[in-house]
Amino acid sequence: MGEGLRLEKNGRLVEDFLPLKETNLDAVVEVGFKGLEKEKRQEYLKVFKVKPMVVGPRIRNLHTWFARRPCSTSRVLTLSSVASATTAHDVLLEAFGVGKGISVAARSYGSGLLFYAKPNRVSVEKIVNESVKKSPTEVTVLDPMAGGGSIPLESARLGFRTVAVEYNPVAYLILRAGVEFPAKYADSGLFEETLKASKEFVRKAREEIGRYYGEGAKRYIFARGVRCPFCNGLIPIQGVEPAVTKVPRLKQRFLKITYDKEEKSFSAQTTDKPMLSGTIAKRGNNIRCPYEGCGKWFQLRGQAKSGTTAFDQWFHDHAQLMGSVVEGFTPVTSEIEEKMLNLHIPLVKQVGNSFYSVWDDDAEKGKFVDSLRALSNELLELQNYIPLDEISSDNVWAGTARSKNLSKWYMLYNPRQLLAIAKLSKIVAETAEELASKNGEFGAAVATYLALALDKIIDYNTIATHWQGTGFKTGIAHTLRGESTLDFRKEYCEMGFLPPELSLGWALESDIAESGSITKTTGGVLPVLRFLCDEFKDANAKERVNVYLGDATQLSNILGLKNIDVINVDPPYFEQVIYSDRSEFFWAILRRALAPVLELLFKPNLKLTNWNWTSPTVPREREVVTYDKQDTQGRFSKFFKEFMNENSKVLKDDGVLTLWFTHPTAEAWHVVSESIYENKFVVPKVWPLQTEMKTRYKKQVNIIAQEMSLVIIGRKYPRQKLLEVSPQDVKNSVIENPLFKKVVEETVEDTRKIIIEANASPADTAALMFGTALSVASRFELPIGAKFSDLYDTAITAVVSKYVQPLIYKVLTETAPLKIDPTTSQKIEKHITQGMLTDPATRSYLTLWLISRVDLATAKIRQEPLGLHFDLVQTVGKLCGFGLDNLKQYELIQERTIDKAGKAYHPQFLEMLTLAGGKASLDKLKEVAPGTATILARSALTESGDPTTRAKTIKAKMSMASDRELASNAALAIILLETTRDQDLGYRITDKTKISGYFPGMDESEMARLIRELAIKTLTQLVF
Ligand SMILES: C[S@@+](CC[C@H](N)C(=O)[O-])C[C@H]1O[C@@H](n2cnc3c(N)ncnc32)[C@H](O)[C@@H]1O
Ligand SMILES: [Zn+2]
Repeated sequence: MGEGLRLEKNGRLVEDFLPLKETNLDAVVEVGFKGLEKEKRQEYLKVFKVKPMVVGPRIRNLHTWFARRPCSTSRVLTLSSVASATTAHDVLLEAFGVGKGISVAARSYGSGLLFYAKPNRVSVEKIVNESVKKSPTEVTVLDPMAGGGSIPLESARLGFRTVAVEYNPVAYLILRAGVEFPAKYADSGLFEETLKASKEFVRKAREEIGRYYGEGAKRYIFARGVRCPFCNGLIPIQGVEPAVTKVPRLKQRFLKITYDKEEKSFSAQTTDKPMLSGTIAKRGNNIRCPYEGCGKWFQLRGQAKSGTTAFDQWFHDHAQLMGSVVEGFTPVTSEIEEKMLNLHIPLVKQVGNSFYSVWDDDAEKGKFVDSLRALSNELLELQNYIPLDEISSDNVWAGTARSKNLSKWYMLYNPRQLLAIAKLSKIVAETAEELASKNGEFGAAVATYLALALDKIIDYNTIATHWQGTGFKTGIAHTLRGESTLDFRKEYCEMGFLPPELSLGWALESDIAESGSITKTTGGVLPVLRFLCDEFKDANAKERVNVYLGDATQLSNILGLKNIDVINVDPPYFEQVIYSDRSEFFWAILRRALAPVLELLFKPNLKLTNWNWTSPTVPREREVVTYDKQDTQGRFSKFFKEFMNENSKVLKDDGVLTLWFTHPTAEAWHVVSESIYENKFVVPKVWPLQTEMKTRYKKQVNIIAQEMSLVIIGRKYPRQKLLEVSPQDVKNSVIENPLFKKVVEETVEDTRKIIIEANASPADTAALMFGTALSVASRFELPIGAKFSDLYDTAITAVVSKYVQPLIYKVLTETAPLKIDPTTSQKIEKHITQGMLTDPATRSYLTLWLISRVDLATAKIRQEPLGLHFDLVQTVGKLCGFGLDNLKQYELIQERTIDKAGKAYHPQFLEMLTLAGGKASLDKLKEVAPGTATILARSALTESGDPTTRAKTIKAKMSMASDRELASNAALAIILLETTRDQDLGYRITDKTKISGYFPGMDESEMARLIRELAIKTLTQLVF
């Protein structure tokens, strides 16, 4: 570290060093699902000396939670937050589980992952002792928004006293099940008891619901049946005809539906070969009736043009059917049976690797109908287990259900799904009651795992469960991943039940857990529970973990003042997931299945004042999220500030805050930065850490999506004063301040190294700029009356310019087609940097241009320009003070539609003058520096004569501009010309005659080289 960034006396390792390579590599394996690129496998083998365990029990198998973070990353962050900066790196790695730990794990499981490596207790003790003169149990680590529990779990495994707070009751149960219960009850036989209870659960379940399913049916695909408004023919709406799946390995995978015009009904057939059959014709939201003789068009979905759409009618009829049976106690007549079969059309089932028609199979249809009768007959006994609660109108995610007339949670199921859920819930509730009456909380703990397993399968059993025909292993997609609203497709999917190994048995995996070969898991609850219990056996961890249902914006009420050594927290990322909304779907089930033990599970640790376990909704009033990317209500901003304020209150003065955050928008970063600053945290470091599956944010243009979270380290250090800064003019006085400049330089240099080491994508790099600017700004005290945003914006400007500057130099001297000598390059670079510092348009445009055209790490010119993602353009634009709208207005950027998924943005240069569609008017272009630079570049390319003559002509034409202005625009033109491709020099295509006049008979790339050289030499004369 340089002078500007002296490490404080009690500095911690995390302010200076993290084993980024190891952590990120391991995290990719941990968060991935199956499949890992060959290169990654080899790299893993090389780094850890063991094969990566790609499939194995993970804590996510306990229950869905959204945005779970890797355990390895959580572990290393917590340990490095306690370890002093002087800790030897190899000792840290060993404590962390690299080396011996992971080898031992690999020996018992055949492959390894840091999650399975025990932290080395001796090394941990030693590090903690030497760093803070305490034993790990005397160090308290808090995660105030603990979610799925990676952070507290790893903190407890390291031996720290661990406190987890969550606002959400579903997460609270996951936390108790995933961290607290194993720590508390591993030695009392938690795993063994749960194993016993699980087997009993599966046995009873088979007895109770087995008969309603076909033997061996893994899953059913249901079509939604609608009636043609003209001929009343029954039409099974689905998107699976003609190929149920694209996986060639599967058999009988082609579906043909034949319509009988007399009966106004149809039959279905599956085969091994695609059959010539007419899938239903559609046009926009309309479809054509497939019955011969009718063939009329009508509206299937969308906003109804008149009356209701067929889809609306379907949902209406379904809600009515369910309502009349479940709440109206209407006895099931054959008419009702038929109504159900016409709405919920069991079309196809998968048995083993083959698909069979179910619609023409009376036995299968009979079982489905029986389930409706059973639901009706047993309604009284099942009353307490049917999720009768309203879908809250506050639940935005489920708004799509409400808008379709599905006003209560139970309406998200067909009768068989509902019957199964109610019966399974009843079994869990009865078990819970019995176990708790014998063993109190321990018994309730055992029941909790059963309830979590049940919750796992309801996710696969709704009328919104997607059939994902592209892959076999993930045949059923969750309804709860990715989409911002509950999404109903044409068809839906249901899980079979016989044998139970396919459903509940799969969710529990008792046999695999019992056998001990837990790496055979495909995602069950018990293998991971076994692992956790083994981990905590004889670990003296009984009292180590506390989980509270509480509000992180009121932490000090729960934890008092200054009791916490480390806060390691991963808060919601702005608008990305509304946890309350999605979890409510699960809460509706959990609260019934666990009803007899809810008080036992919640009461002792409940720290919320206006919510308790009897509530059908989950708390959302103070959830730290926003419902829109602009945070128009200021909700995120308000709560996040309160949250940071509470963090500051509960943290000791020498404590460490480790805050995970990332977001592509400037708005989010402003809120987070301001909250950190206002609560007096200094940010000595920001780390990029791999935390997502690669695909998560990659919906749109793929190359530039964010894959990392940034981890912001906060300390309560004193701030440095900046002399002679006037509150009215922070921006101008700070940017030239020598101390400020020095800190910018050192911080950017440091970040640059990290970017290369972590192999950050351009989008991650953009986010890192925000983080780096925060780090810079956080070190300085503002004069009274000055606004933080002025300081922060200045820091951003300085950071971006500083970051790009050496890149420009490297391009000019090393990677450009026409290399320029160092002295001249330096001069050119200086002009460009000056332009970037003072002119937002240059800053924004050039940054985007370089991201698109140059590899940021190596400065190599890209063969194919990178299309930029909307978020990235927005981010950089805002960051630089010249946004997308402005860029568009001057045609400095072009929007191209890639496919349905999204748009890509391409910064424009000569194209805007030459290519078809390039219609920017010269006068308009001259209003902004990048426009002027473009015009200059074109002149340099097309004027006649040698460079000196050309330069003179240009100067004469541009007589209005000052020399300085001309110089800086010429410098900009040079870097643009140096990073543009041959074919984009443009004139080759549209104005060939002029150039070929100079160089008759030359080939095109040679010509490009020459005209580029001429132009650059011309421009160089204008830079002085
Ligand atoms: C990004 S998630 C944490 C994920 C977690 N680190 C993991 O690995 O699973 C953020 C969590 O913050 C919780 N949260 C939101 N507002 C809260 C509040 N006011 N108090 C406590 N927790 C809150 C959400 O319920 C959510 O679980
Ligand atoms: Zn018709």
